[in-house]
Amino acid sequence: MQAAVLPSEDGKDAPQRTQSRVFPSRILQLLTLFVVLASVFFVLSMYMTRYFDLQTIKSQARPVVKSCVVEEQTDLRRWIKPPRTLMHNMSDEQLFWRASFAPQVKKYPFQRVPKVAFLFLTRGPLPLSPLWERFFEGHEELYSIYIHSLPGYQPDFPPSSVFYKRQIPSKVTEWGKMSMCDAERRLLANALLDLSNERFVLLSESCIPLYNFSITYRYLMRSRYSFVGSFDDPGPHGRGRYNLRMKPEVNIAQWRKGAQWFEVNRKLAINIISDAKYYPKFRDFCKPGCYVDEHYFPTMLAIESPHLMANRSVTWVDWSRGGAHPATFGKRDITEAFLKKILEGKSCFYNAQPSSVCFLFARKFAPNALEPLLQLAPSLLGFK
Ligand SMILES: *[C@@H]1O[C@H](CO)[C@@H](O)[C@H](O)[C@H]1NC(C)=O
Ligand SMILES: *[C@@H]1O[C@H](CO)[C@@H](O)[C@H](O)[C@H]1NC(C)=O
Ligand SMILES: *[C@@H]1O[C@H](CO)[C@@H](O)[C@H](O)[C@H]1NC(C)=O
Repeated sequence: MQAAVLPSEDGKDAPQRTQSRVFPSRILQLLTLFVVLASVFFVLSMYMTRYFDLQTIKSQARPVVKSCVVEEQTDLRRWIKPPRTLMHNMSDEQLFWRASFAPQVKKYPFQRVPKVAFLFLTRGPLPLSPLWERFFEGHEELYSIYIHSLPGYQPDFPPSSVFYKRQIPSKVTEWGKMSMCDAERRLLANALLDLSNERFVLLSESCIPLYNFSITYRYLMRSRYSFVGSFDDPGPHGRGRYNLRMKPEVNIAQWRKGAQWFEVNRKLAINIISDAKYYPKFRDFCKPGCYVDEHYFPTMLAIESPHLMANRSVTWVDWSRGGAHPATFGKRDITEAFLKKILEGKSCFYNAQPSSVCFLFARKFAPNALEPLLQLAPSLLGFK
């Protein structure tokens, strides 16, 4: 077969073949030209008719094309804008997976204004909200708020409130149990969905701010470390709660204790919500009287990212009265001297330098503490 084909292909009869095609190809060219001209004329006339008839429809059709094609497929905003509403139907598993997405390119290709996410872990109402409203006023671009309350609790914040529609899908939580850590991870995960959130503070309904927003924001943003209480307590309430079955993931020298009220940066927040290594150990082997919310994050983070930990909390609390719960302060406790004692009573390290500003928040405050706090806020806390 090859021998028969080759001679006709090796050039000998090529001129003849070219010649025999001259005539049909000329006709083809002319035909093509005619068809092209005809179609151009046709399209042009169609266009003219439609132009005059359908101008209104055309002007309506344009934005549709724009919003489907331009915004959905080519605009970066699609990837960086926060979800429009905080309510969603994702399961925890789905939410944590989604929240663990993190860019691998360090430099943001847009102007990113980092925000502080305030995570309120509550039963329901926020009796001290008027104090917080004043704290937040005027700093709308620099914070976001998330509230985890008992499922079924219906908040009644007016649309003008900073707490309006800031509830996240919530589940029942019990003090000292894993469901408490689950709620904290849920708060972190929902807040991680907003790329602007850089620092994450856990608060309760009995917490108050101790400084104005500008000072608080600067303190957190400029900190090299995250404020997670984490220490080795050799006593029965520390190492005494360790269970040998946590090995090899956690050995006793790595076991840490710390107050639940953390402040973490974005990296540690992602560490916490994506953890699958330590979680089962704490769930299975740290049950009451091992209070898992005092050990899980302080231990896990101390193993994974010790260089990012300040090992102290920024939330002041008073254990001096003794017992299983810290002191709660009401109306009659709130005096200038009392607040000054909290503000000035301690020294600590901030970015490896001695500092007199150690706490940004304090607990626990009863609902009736609101009124005196509002009165003292302008002179002592630095906001109206
Ligand atoms: C969640 O699902 C329910 C039922 O399918 C639906 O009615 C509701 O609108 C959904 N909520 C959101 C925020 O998508
Ligand atoms: C916090 O503790 C860890 C050990 O758990 C240590 O490596 C780290 O340097 C400490 N952080 C500071 C700021 O001292
Ligand atoms: C915040 O408080 C500090 C110290 O009290 C003060 O100097 C500063 O002006 C306050 N900032 C605002 C925005 O009120």
